[in-house]
Amino acid sequence: MIVLSELKELSVSRRIERIGSHTHIKGLGLDENGKAVKIKDGMVGQERAREAAGLVVRMIKEGKLAGRLVILAGPPGTGKTAIAVAIARELGLNVPFIEMSGAEVYSTERKKTEVLIEAMRKCIGVEIHEMREVYEGEVTKINIRTAPHPYNPYQRIVESATITLKTKEEERTIEVGEDIAAQLIQQGVREGSVIQIDAESGRVSLIGISQESNLAKQYELDTKAKVPRPEGKVKKQKEFVYYVTLADLDRMAARRRGGIFSLFFGGTEEKEISPEIRSEVDRQVKEMIDEKKAFLHPGVLFIDDAHLLDLECFSFLSRAIEGELSPIVILATNRGFARIRGTDIEAPLGFPPDLLDRGIIIGTDTYDEESIREILKIRANEEGIEIENDALEKLTKIGHERSLRYAVQLLSIAAENAKIEGRKKVIVKDVERVDGLFMDVSEAVEHLKKYEGLMMKH
Ligand SMILES: Nc1ncnc2c1ncn2[C@@H]1O[C@H](COP(=O)(O)OP(=O)(O)OP(=O)(O)O)[C@@H](O)[C@H]1O
Ligand SMILES: [Mg+2]
Repeated sequence: MIVLSELKELSVSRRIERIGSHTHIKGLGLDENGKAVKIKDGMVGQERAREAAGLVVRMIKEGKLAGRLVILAGPPGTGKTAIAVAIARELGLNVPFIEMSGAEVYSTERKKTEVLIEAMRKCIGVEIHEMREVYEGEVTKINIRTAPHPYNPYQRIVESATITLKTKEEERTIEVGEDIAAQLIQQGVREGSVIQIDAESGRVSLIGISQESNLAKQYELDTKAKVPRPEGKVKKQKEFVYYVTLADLDRMAARRRGGIFSLFFGGTEEKEISPEIRSEVDRQVKEMIDEKKAFLHPGVLFIDDAHLLDLECFSFLSRAIEGELSPIVILATNRGFARIRGTDIEAPLGFPPDLLDRGIIIGTDTYDEESIREILKIRANEEGIEIENDALEKLTKIGHERSLRYAVQLLSIAAENAKIEGRKKVIVKDVERVDGLFMDVSEAVEHLKKYEGLMMKH
């Protein structure tokens, strides 16, 4: 069901990020011994949690954490999401990292577990190696033959082509049929292009422009990459490496199953992918792994605000992380002792105890004023905001008394206010004004209480 020649067409979507207020986070800010440097990589303070996260990153990279659960727990605005973003940065692009919010599982169209399964499968990277027979070389001669259209004599259609391909070792002329000739035209193949033709499927890939060709000398700048003239023979076995995820393979397999209808109705992508398709994909992937044709790269699924998940989701996760093809799951929550959603049971963090047992917990602590000031300075710098000292002090106080998250948000709004009033620099007045206009969460709660009798309820 997995057809390798189709892999090239997949658009590999590696990560989805909602990180607006975390753009300043570049990493965990650790030194070479894994110790946190007070201010580094956009990170300030929170040393214990950062060092713990550093160990988690090491273990993920060494493949020692598969099927485990990491929990980030701490009060609102203490940098749980920031640390998860830092973990993603440290892991680098080769490890899939998917971020979602606990709220995303609730949809009227899809089952909760379905959303989770898909998210988990997006986090399992599969590196597939394949030997294919190809014709490869720099095009030194190309002759495309056309014939009159069978019904319309004024039109001509592509019939066949003769191309000469040159490598460092030999030059060979091949005849190709209508299908390949049409692809040659479509892709703008000309003398000087380096191309590959898949011997089995006939698919043409334009690799770039040969450095040795006249074409390369002709144009100083071209959007096509300049590549050396290929080595070896024109017809050869070549290894291809593709990076995909289990979710990509599922989609591909489902599309094939969709048959003719998928052509008309856009495939089965909207619909849920059936468990049979998934287990078939798993079976084939395992087979390729046994044959050393594929390698797994388990990534990370980060579920922010995980207290929004309910018992059904938690049970599913407990089971799923023990499966063979499971990513590392990181959950973040700011709940203390809370009700497990979907039950009347109260439990630490609002998570079922059996799930807690499987996890290692990283705690985040509240910040002192100095750290808050530093974080606000970094944010101001990141957003290109100039701010007077007094205004920064005022914001620091707000961050300390209410929440850092609120202060970070006020900073951008205060900058907007300064702009409206024709100033470049944010002053105390801006901060006071916007603080008066907006509410943090506790203020909002007070506000709602005051009007409880008057507001709608249902
Ligand atoms: N140690 C830190 N260094 C630098 N920036 C930080 C740090 N901690 C938090 N921040 C920044 O402060 C803001 C609030 O932090 P964040 O959103 O990560 O908190 P949270 O613990 O996820 O809160 P919540 O429980 O409300 O989701 C963000 O803009 C974040 O990037
Ligand atoms: Mg958060």
